Amino acid sequence: MSGPKGPISLAASPLPRPPELSVERVTELDDHDMAELCEATDAAIIEGGGFGWVEPQGRAALQRHFRGVLLVPERELFIARLDGMVVGSAQLVRPPRNNEAQAFGATLTHAYIAPYARGHGLARLMIRRVEERAASLGHRVVNLDVRETQTTAIALFEALGYERWGTHPAYARVNGRTVAGHYYYKLLEPGRGRSTGQVMGR
Ligand SMILES: CC(C)(COP(=O)(O)OP(=O)(O)OC[C@H]1O[C@@H](n2cnc3c(N)ncnc32)[C@H](O)[C@@H]1OP(=O)(O)O)[C@@H](O)C(=O)NCCC(=O)NCCS
Repeated sequence: MSGPKGPISLAASPLPRPPELSVERVTELDDHDMAELCEATDAAIIEGGGFGWVEPQGRAALQRHFRGVLLVPERELFIARLDGMVVGSAQLVRPPRNNEAQAFGATLTHAYIAPYARGHGLARLMIRRVEERAASLGHRVVNLDVRETQTTAIALFEALGYERWGTHPAYARVNGRTVAGHYYYKLLEPGRGRSTGQVMGR
């Protein structure tokens, strides 16, 4: 017959720690980060994309893409990390210098998080960082567009205050099907100086 086994330890299994989230704007990528970024990008494309590509591109093509992005003066690349690993990215596109009339606006594009890193709040953080950067550069508006099939992204953008102003019925062709796309904008407040409402006369 077995007797009592002594006190039961209540501190046996520590709570799992929350993952570490970070987003940074990069002007260069080392080989390791580039490899993780290409893997995350292809994983997102395979799952359904939503940022232009329909077919997975493979490492070499994506590497060329991102190296090109880093060279374009009007484009800024943001990468998202989960516990240090690159799992997604977004781009901020500024108007070219000759477009003075629209210099107050910038575009958020190519935003995605790899399926294996979703649901932790990384996209929300990434979009906030892009908005902060746009505001710090003096932009008063962020524009973006998204396929109507990207329902998670749509919920996220609307929760973050993006206003839908239109829908393009022939926005994209995906796997032989025409897909509509929604267009959004959000006004930014610079945090100092005249408010965006005053500047825009609204
Ligand atoms: C849209 C996307 C970027 C969200 O990434 P994510 O890191 O999982 O998003 P977050 O964890 O930051 O979630 C933010 C919000 O999105 C919404 N959301 C996230 N996952 C969701 C899900 N599975 N169902 C419904 N809403 C969801 C919620 O509103 C959530 O807010 P909450 O945390 O307060 O509930 C990701 O699903 C993705 O890459 N999708 C494919 C690419 C795409 O559509 N890009 C946008 C067009 S360019």
